[in-house]
Amino acid sequence: MAMFFRTILCFFVLISLVFTTSAQNCRSHTFANRIPYSACNDLSVLNSFLHWNYIAENRTVNLAYRHAGVSATRWVAWAINPTARGMVGSQALVAFQSGGRMEAYTSPINSFQTSLARGNLSFPVPTISAEFNGANEITIFATIVLPPGSTTVNQVWQEGPLTGSTPGIHPTTGANIQSIGTIDFQSGQTSSGGGAANSRVKRRNVHGVLNAVSWGTLMPLGAIIARYLKVAKAANPAWFYLHIACQTSAYAVGVAGWATGLKLGSDSPGIQYDSHRNLGIALFVLGTLQVFALLLRPKPDHKFRFYWNIYHHATGYLVIILSVVNVYKGFDILDPEKKWKRIYTGVLVTLAVIAVLLETFTWIVVIKRKKNEDKSHHGANGMNGYGARHQQGV
Ligand code: HEM
Ligand SMILES: *[C@@H]1O[C@H](CO)[C@@H](O)[C@H](O)[C@H]1NC(C)=O
Ligand SMILES: *[C@@H]1O[C@H](CO)[C@@H](O)[C@H](O)[C@H]1NC(C)=O
Repeated sequence: MAMFFRTILCFFVLISLVFTTSAQNCRSHTFANRIPYSACNDLSVLNSFLHWNYIAENRTVNLAYRHAGVSATRWVAWAINPTARGMVGSQALVAFQSGGRMEAYTSPINSFQTSLARGNLSFPVPTISAEFNGANEITIFATIVLPPGSTTVNQVWQEGPLTGSTPGIHPTTGANIQSIGTIDFQSGQTSSGGGAANSRVKRRNVHGVLNAVSWGTLMPLGAIIARYLKVAKAANPAWFYLHIACQTSAYAVGVAGWATGLKLGSDSPGIQYDSHRNLGIALFVLGTLQVFALLLRPKPDHKFRFYWNIYHHATGYLVIILSVVNVYKGFDILDPEKKWKRIYTGVLVTLAVIAVLLETFTWIVVIKRKKNEDKSHHGANGMNGYGARHQQGV
């Protein structure tokens, strides 16, 4: 039971960490040899910061977009999107290092197939330049004249790889599709996340947590309970009810997780993660069979019980292996912060260590029991086998 609570605890820690953000702060940054910017904002993802001065009479913004944690072989970009939330329609400022010097230019983005070619934006950009700090930070400096209308605009920002001096597609998971928000250059107010895209990120996280907890953790835990608690005679039939409780709740939560996955898939018809999807479907089928098999199991002394046991164990172990594989595939797609993968690996290793210890212990018990039974069988001590069996009820 202690290990059960430990696992549950791990997951509360896990869930509570989902909402933590980067600790760096734009206020503490000073630009060398430059006019101070009166306003700044820590953007929600991708180690990015926006600093600016806003001149209301001619709607001019002098800005510095700082992107930390990038090497010299990445491009960075910041954009206003006057027409929509998200990438398509963005009017981007792009910068990267090429041949030892910084390139900085404007690029209107009309589709997801953009190659970030140079072009004029829908609003004036009188000046643009960029700097690389020599280590891991690129800053774009620009003057822009805000498009007519509100001083609150949609913004997006990004970083991606370079091939020579050609920008390549940025990652399309994790923080790289959460880099959306609005900013009011007058008041400095920002909101992060952009409508549909933001709620998709939330649903992806919910999907991940539900499945990692159910298929990825409770299922193996339930198998451990069945395999090792069964040996302790005192735990009979408690092990059976614990096993059922564990597996049916894992199945219920797992089906919810599975449904959120199907919904995610149907909401983004352009993108398919075939193996993750197929494994998910296979798991649902196998898991459902397992639940029905439980209802249809023959009585312990029935002649088919032997075959049923083989079937139930084989499917059970297959489900656990496929679940773990699929949780890791999910991590690669979701691409959350590294710590989540590490925490999940930690939970698995803990379960594995517990299983190995219990396996050893079980063998010792079984061998001892066998010896005692042999002894009592040979009439050496009639009470011994009985006594030993009771000792095992630890
Ligand atoms: C090399 C050029 C680029 C290519 C080929 C490209 C491609 C894509 C693709 C295919 C997606 C969809 C991913 C998904 O939802 O599964 C996407 C999303 C996104 N991109 Fe780009 N992109 C490029 C440049 C940029 C730039 C310069 C920015 C920002 C200044 C940007 C910001 C975003 C954002 C915020 C999203 C997620 C929100 C949305 O779906 O609109 N991208 N990109
Ligand atoms: C906007 O006004 C400021 C201050 O009056 C001036 O320095 C700047 O050049 C103007 N910008 C543009 C783009 O007209
Ligand atoms: C961008 O604007 C400038 C100045 O208005 C003009 O000379 C140039 O041809 C334009 N470039 C493109 C690609 O339209």
